[in-house]
Amino acid sequence: MTTPASSPTAARVVDAVKVYGTGDTAVRALDGVSVGFPAGRFTAIMGPSGSGKSTLMHCAAGLDTLTSGSAHIGGTELGTLDDRRLTQLRRDRVGFVFQGFNLVPTLTVAENIRLPLDLAGRTGDPDWLDTLIDIVGLRDRLHHRPTELSGGQQQRVAVARAFAGRPDVVFADEPTGNLDSRSGEEVLGLLGRAVRQTARTVVMVTHDPVAAAHADEVVFLADGRLVDRMASPTADHILDRMKAFEKAQVTS
Ligand SMILES: Nc1ncnc2c1ncn2[C@@H]1O[C@H](COP(=O)(O)OP(=O)(O)OP(=O)(O)O)[C@@H](O)[C@H]1O
Ligand SMILES: [Mg+2]
Repeated sequence: MTTPASSPTAARVVDAVKVYGTGDTAVRALDGVSVGFPAGRFTAIMGPSGSGKSTLMHCAAGLDTLTSGSAHIGGTELGTLDDRRLTQLRRDRVGFVFQGFNLVPTLTVAENIRLPLDLAGRTGDPDWLDTLIDIVGLRDRLHHRPTELSGGQQQRVAVARAFAGRPDVVFADEPTGNLDSRSGEEVLGLLGRAVRQTARTVVMVTHDPVAAAHADEVVFLADGRLVDRMASPTADHILDRMKAFEKAQVTS
């Protein structure tokens, strides 16, 4: 499906530049990227190692700041917020899923899912949490601890936790990177269902064309720049595009 140009963006960066370090050792991780992530859609970010995928995600999510340019969540420009407001925005409007699950081992599944709400002193919406638990299929594991779960189940807990506070947008950095292909498929199916059934927005970094094919659209980065976008991706189509990039890089 193509996205109408007028579709609202849940998150976007404009002319994003990120330079790490100074002088001779400076690295230009983002070199003028403008990209919007449409609301209610699942977008994948792909590109070679070191192309700036995680940097883009962290800056778009307000976990890191840009050197120049701007990052926006909905209508809010992150650069205009002081630390307290930025923390508040991250807490209330953004969810995260990382490669390493990051669950708290001493808490049960139910407590891990509720953690962002509890930290924020929010009660949360019981119906929403109930729906989430069904979507991730963990109702019979709610009182287990993370060590008693498989990797795929742990990542499903992390996904439920990311959505617990009804965030506008969930950012996931290689959420299937530590999973076997079957568990990975489960987590990807789950992210897709969360987008379709709950009208959330998901932005996912991945190296895997099969994973990216679950998204509505793929954006490609190379050397800190946005080099392509692909709507309604298939794994074969993505793989062809990646091969073409590699060839172009070898011959340039
Ligand atoms: N904290 C940092 N200090 C200095 N350089 C950094 C830092 N973080 C990232 N970089 C550099 O910025 C560039 C982009 O890194 P980034 O982590 O965004 O890449 P990536 O596309 O996510 O790669 P990967 O697929 O390996 O995770 C790389 O050259 C990296 O070495
Ligand atoms: Mg990365």
